Amino acid sequence: MNKTKITGIGHFVPERVVTNFDLEKQMDTTNDWIIERTGIEERRWVEPGVGTSDLAVEASKRALAMSGLKPKDVDLIVFATLTPDYAFPGSSVLVQKKLGMDHIGAFDITVACSAFIYGISIGDQFIKTGQAEIVLVIGAEIQSTGLDASSAGRDMAVLFGDGAGAVILQKSDSESEILSTHLHVDGNFHKELWAEVPTALENPRISKELLDAGRHYPRMNGREVFRNAVTRFPQVINEALDANGLSIADVALVIPHQANLRITQMVAKRLKIGMDQVYSNIHRYGNTTAASIPIAMSEAYSEGLFKKGDIIILAAFGAGFTWASAAIRW
Ligand SMILES: CC(C)(COP(=O)(O)OP(=O)(O)OC[C@H]1O[C@@H](n2cnc3c(N)ncnc32)[C@H](O)[C@@H]1OP(=O)(O)O)[C@@H](O)C(=O)NCCC(=O)NCCS
Repeated sequence: MNKTKITGIGHFVPERVVTNFDLEKQMDTTNDWIIERTGIEERRWVEPGVGTSDLAVEASKRALAMSGLKPKDVDLIVFATLTPDYAFPGSSVLVQKKLGMDHIGAFDITVACSAFIYGISIGDQFIKTGQAEIVLVIGAEIQSTGLDASSAGRDMAVLFGDGAGAVILQKSDSESEILSTHLHVDGNFHKELWAEVPTALENPRISKELLDAGRHYPRMNGREVFRNAVTRFPQVINEALDANGLSIADVALVIPHQANLRITQMVAKRLKIGMDQVYSNIHRYGNTTAASIPIAMSEAYSEGLFKKGDIIILAAFGAGFTWASAAIRW
């Protein structure tokens, strides 16, 4: 069985910065409320006409450059997103076209905020079994075009942002390795954080009536999400530690999905670690769903927060509910 390592990492966010003060002008909210409840100061929102695959292409180019590879070297794309450019086909096929890649395998996965770790796990299996040699795993989202930016949608609209991150997975002949991945879901909670429409249960799947009722906007039971997140994050991080005979003191950096600063702080407290051991950039980007972990990883790497031989733990929680972790020796 092969071992897998990450050889490249990159991210890309749109230029347009939307501050809490900008949102104050659009809806009944305040900078103070948003900062106190979430830690978010600003987020990036795309200009009209930009697709999720456009952000993904830029992040992928940066990850490929770090690996010293060309697009044609890639033999599988795993694209984690719940906001693809179109209802179908998935955005992975657009990345293949836009980067001029060969007729390789490519697919999207829809596991919300946990999708990037699911993608890493899938790519890891392909490399381990020798099915693929170079896998591009992308996490990219455009949330801004799907939010209700009026006061009625303020609980969701202030949280989310747009962006993309990508990594390259290759066979490892050194100590660098994806040590483990753990994936979970509990579908009983699927209505606690979801976008119901367009839905195959209705004909047509989207109608003026459904739009007028706002059923196409994402909806969330914030308290239920919070309660479950602060339990599942530590649980799945401890699962990764136990599986590898590690303790939290062995970990250079925990890189959690950036859902909310208060969630991250509570997770750190439950793990009995300081915030210097947990990466957070939510103040600048908000929650970018499947893109948040690769963006955070890419920034943490650029800031020199982990280096060769260090153990890092990725952890996610999100709609489904889904939750997941990955332990990596860099
Ligand atoms: C969303 C969240 C920040 C709300 O915080 P909260 O302390 O639970 O706040 P509540 O939902 O109880 O709302 C408190 C009040 O603020 C109001 N409010 C909601 N959004 C607001 C906003 N953007 N600006 C101002 N007020 C707002 C509510 O209407 C409510 O008013 P009321 O008391 O008059 O009814 C919090 O529940 C949370 O972080 N949940 C997890 C969200 C998350 O991470 N989701 C993604 C997971 S991947």
